[in-house]
Amino acid sequence: MFLVTGATGQLGRSIVRQLRLQESPVRALVRLMSDYSELENRGAEIFIGELTRSRDIERAVQGVQYVISAHGGASEALNYRANIDLIDAAKEHGVQHFVFISVLGVDRGYEDALTFKAKWEVEKYLQASGLNYTILRPSGFASNLISLAKQFQRTGIYLLVGDPQSRSSIVSTDDLARIAIASPTTEAARNQIFAIGGPEILQRQAVPQIFGRIFNREPIVINPPLFVFDGLRTAIGMLNSGGKESLGTLRTLLANEFYITPEEVARIESVYGFKLEPLEQFLRRYASP
Ligand SMILES: NC(=O)c1ccc[n+]([C@@H]2O[C@H](COP(=O)([O-])OP(=O)(O)OC[C@H]3O[C@@H](n4cnc5c(N)ncnc54)[C@H](OP(=O)(O)O)[C@@H]3O)[C@@H](O)[C@H]2O)c1
Repeated sequence: MFLVTGATGQLGRSIVRQLRLQESPVRALVRLMSDYSELENRGAEIFIGELTRSRDIERAVQGVQYVISAHGGASEALNYRANIDLIDAAKEHGVQHFVFISVLGVDRGYEDALTFKAKWEVEKYLQASGLNYTILRPSGFASNLISLAKQFQRTGIYLLVGDPQSRSSIVSTDDLARIAIASPTTEAARNQIFAIGGPEILQRQAVPQIFGRIFNREPIVINPPLFVFDGLRTAIGMLNSGGKESLGTLRTLLANEFYITPEEVARIESVYGFKLEPLEQFLRRYASP
C-alpha cells in the first residue's frame, strides 16, 4: 500500500492514476473540501485529513509500505512541519521507503525562497532518519502550462516575465509520477537524490513557440522585465508581509535557471529504464485543440 499526500494536486493525481492503472493499492490523503471523486472512482482508498494535524498524519501512515510526499503549499507548516511529522510517523510505523518531492536548486542556498529552505531542511532530516528514501528534485512541471496553453488557444497571448533566454528543462508531470512510483522498488534509487527534468534544455521563449505550433497560431509575447514584478512585490509587502514572503519563492523561480544536464538525463533514463518525454509531447496530450 502506498500513501500519497497532495493526491489532489497536479503530481499527486498523476501518481494515483498511474498506481491504479497498474492496480496497486493506494491511500490518497485528501482534504474534505477538495475534489477527490476521480481518485475514488479509480479505486484509491480515500483518507480525509489535514496535513497540519499530526494526529491525521499518524493515522494515515498506519499499514502502509511506501510514502510519497507530494503535497505543496506556501506555508512552513506544510513544507516543513508536515514532512517532519510524516517522516517521524513513517519511521514509527515501519514504512519501508519514503519518497520526497523536493525541488531543483534546493542546494543553492536561496535565502529569499522559504519553500526551498524548508525542503532543504526536510531532505537533511530524511537522510538522517534511518528510513530508506529517494529524494527527487524536479524542475518546473509541464502541467503548470496546461491552463496557460488553454488561455493561449483563446487569445494567442503569452506573458513571459523576465529573461526570455533563461533556460529550464520542464519535466513531464507524468514522467515524474512514474519515477516516484518506481523509486521504492528500484534498487539503484535507494537512498539516492536525483535532479529531475525533461530531456531538453529550453529557453523560456521556446514555450510560446510550442503553443504556436500546437494551436497553429502566431504567438503574441508580452515580456515585462523582472523589475516590474519586484515593484509589485514591494507594494504587496507593504500591505501584507506574508504575501511578500511567498512571492520570494516565485521571484527565485523567475530570476534563475532550472535545468538538468545531459548526464543527469542519462542517469534517470538508465536507473528507471525509460525515455523522458519532451514538453511538446506532454502538452499535445493534455492541451491539444
Ligand atoms: N509545480 C511545480 O512546478 C513544482 C516544481 C518543483 C517541485 N514541486 C513540488 O512538487 C510537489 C507537488 O506539486 P504540485 O504542483 O503537484 O502541487 P499542487 O498542485 O499545488 O497541489 C498541492 C497539493 O497539496 C494539498 N494540500 C495543501 N494543503 C494541504 C493540507 N493542509 N492538508 C492536506 N493536503 C494539503 C493540496 O490539496 P487541496 O486540493 O485540498 O488544495 C493539493 O493536493 C510539491 O511539493 C511542490 O513543492 C512542484
